Amino acid sequence: MSKGIRVIAVINRKGGCGKSTLVRGLASAAIVRGERVTIFDTDSSKGCYGWMLAAKQLGNWNDRADVIHTFDPDEITATIEAINAQPPHDHLVLIDTYGGASEALDDVVLQSDLVVAPIRPGRNDFTETMETLIWHERLKGRVKNPDGVPDYRVVINGVSAEPSAIERDTIQEILASMPVIEEPIMERKAYKQVDGEGLLGAIRDNTRKGIVQNHLTNALDEMDAVLELLDEVMVSDVEAVE
Ligand SMILES: Nc1ncnc2c1ncn2[C@@H]1O[C@H](COP(=O)(O)OP(=O)(O)OP(=O)(O)O)[C@@H](O)[C@H]1O
Ligand SMILES: [Mg+2]
Repeated sequence: MSKGIRVIAVINRKGGCGKSTLVRGLASAAIVRGERVTIFDTDSSKGCYGWMLAAKQLGNWNDRADVIHTFDPDEITATIEAINAQPPHDHLVLIDTYGGASEALDDVVLQSDLVVAPIRPGRNDFTETMETLIWHERLKGRVKNPDGVPDYRVVINGVSAEPSAIERDTIQEILASMPVIEEPIMERKAYKQVDGEGLLGAIRDNTRKGIVQNHLTNALDEMDAVLELLDEVMVSDVEAVE
């Protein structure tokens, strides 16, 4: 089915929870589906922009993907408008943020169809993600049109293959108190490889058949499942408005 143009803002004030990893993974899944991808990297460290440059050098990039480094909400708006003005096509727009869920992000969020926060199953992540949720709720009180504030979902990230008792308890607590996407993201070497090397599908295609290639395929399947669930949320939001 045609998915059209969707804008996802990845936000969580907790550093290192996996925002950029999620952006890179979702971008990889969309590229394998044949979509176009635009990533706005709003982090001063240029994490995603640098990632694209390295990936291009290694031959692990795809022409249908682009990363734009900018802090300017007006530039983001103009670019999204230009994408919308193109003939209909499937296009995933991802906004990678730098942590602070502050009023500076209001404009960015209001242009999105969905806000997604990765959360690691740990105590600090829980508290800071709750604060991000509260920020999102308050945003509805700050803006002129509260209905224009996109929905919010949480994705559990970095789950170990054999979780400890504490990790399991925290996961239960997250499931009980936050709007969680059903597909968790596992702790995988493949995601670290993505950080340094490029798009998952491209790395996989450039890797010899074998265990490593299978691991990359598993990570890609996982990100595809997460994207599928996020798309379902966005579709039902559109239907609710109509
Ligand atoms: N599911 C995962 N499996 C393996 N490594 C992961 C996973 N998620 C994140 N990491 C690693 O954890 C580190 C931090 O992740 P990432 O950079 O995505 O976090 P972030 O939320 O973008 O951080 P920041 O707030 O600094 O921008 C990176 O080294 C990344 O490779
Ligand atoms: Mg980051």
